[in-house]
Amino acid sequence: LKALSAYQQLAERHARLSRLGYFHQLSEWDQRTHMPPAGAATKARAHSELASLLHGLATDPGLDDLLARTRDEALDDWQRANVQEIQRRRALSRELPAALVSRHQIAVGTCNAAWMPARRSNDWPAFAATLAPVVAVLREEALCQGEALGVSRYDALLQRWERGTTTARLRRLFAQVSGWLPEMVQHALARQRDEVVLVPTGPFPVAEQAALCQRIMFALGLDPASARLDVSPHPFVTSGSPQDVRLTNRYDEAALMPALRSLVHEAGHGSYRQGSPAEWAEQPLGEPASAAMDEGQALFFERHIGMRPAFSTWLAPQLGQAFGDQPAFDAENLARLALRVRPGKLRTAADELTYPAHVILRFEIERALIDGEIEVADIPAWWDEHMRRLLGIDTRGDFRDGPLQDMHWPDGGFGYFPSYLLGAMTAAQLAASAERDLGSLDGHIAQGDFAPITGWLGNQVWSQASRFEPDELLQRCTGSTLDPEFLRRHLAQRYLGRAPSTTPKAVNP
Ligand code: CO
Repeated sequence: LKALSAYQQLAERHARLSRLGYFHQLSEWDQRTHMPPAGAATKARAHSELASLLHGLATDPGLDDLLARTRDEALDDWQRANVQEIQRRRALSRELPAALVSRHQIAVGTCNAAWMPARRSNDWPAFAATLAPVVAVLREEALCQGEALGVSRYDALLQRWERGTTTARLRRLFAQVSGWLPEMVQHALARQRDEVVLVPTGPFPVAEQAALCQRIMFALGLDPASARLDVSPHPFVTSGSPQDVRLTNRYDEAALMPALRSLVHEAGHGSYRQGSPAEWAEQPLGEPASAAMDEGQALFFERHIGMRPAFSTWLAPQLGQAFGDQPAFDAENLARLALRVRPGKLRTAADELTYPAHVILRFEIERALIDGEIEVADIPAWWDEHMRRLLGIDTRGDFRDGPLQDMHWPDGGFGYFPSYLLGAMTAAQLAASAERDLGSLDGHIAQGDFAPITGWLGNQVWSQASRFEPDELLQRCTGSTLDPEFLRRHLAQRYLGRAPSTTPKAVNP
């Protein structure tokens, strides 16, 4: 029998990490869906134990020898890219002392457990006391990795979500958006001022909402044998493999549309997982190309499928069937409702025009926090100042719908928020290319025939997983690297009824 090549041994080492990591993910899913709140401390200790074990495997010195030996082996493009990604991750994990890895899990577990009750009672000080240790741990991690990479602390954390991205690049991209967005918001508000829009009135029983959401997610292409839908306070997707894709959603008896919108968004994340190559499921290369590419798929579903008038045409009769007819369920009304612009406090409830402001605010705060320019105690004041400046909203005293609204920081997910705005740009760029290749998507969507669209995304993006860096993947399927001009054109067309040609084409960053 032939001895295993260095590549095969390396891949097997990573498969072990991935299999153990599966239980880590599963337990996080459990914490957010089923675990009784008092179980949090036990879970945090178990996570800490597992994280230490995984860290030991990821930093085993024997990996260096295997990595070096793969250089002389004949590998195909996928394998070569896989080796590079294993090497990149290894270089990052090596910088983290084992004790810090355990502390991370405990700090995050404690803060996570404090987050929900603090949010319910609008208790910022109680939450802040548990967030401070999380920030301290993340700063230390960022310092270790940043020094090795020769970058700032925040830039080091960005590498976890967007390979190669920097604060400078984000500032450049976001500045372009900030340049044209405020005026667009004002125009859209003026255009919509006299519009009559009915909001569906409940109650909408949770069980019926969940059943409808499940039908929609399967209609969008998720496979009932491989996907399921549960309830959690903050919707998310976790996936152990393309055959095990778990979506969650949240429901409010008084409001129907937010749950439907979240469901369509999460179905985009889930479809990306389901459409990724099964044979690469246990390797880094089988994962989404980046957090922005991942949000890009979710936002493609949410905004370029779910928010089109054609989707309301398809949805309207189903709403009547599930909850009884009411005037608000008229397809044209639903279409207007989906595009209604309303500056508000909540990111997840924000319309697509004011959404970028919510991302830019979080980016500014978390960058300053990680780089040590502000402390946890400064967050509410910064929050209020940015919300006033960007959206004209006073948030003083409202922590619940202020800095307590997201689970990213209690999760230790600093550096993730920018991916939402990069994702919105990605989604608009992909949608323009899908329409170029397929013609208008509206006819398919109005019929509930999503297969041509998901087939296109599957071929172009999902099946490629992490084979290419995000910009190269975009270049291949859209003809250019990430370019915010696609987002501007999409929003102008949708909210101003035209694509202003006066703005010169943005220069690619
Ligand atoms: Co998402």
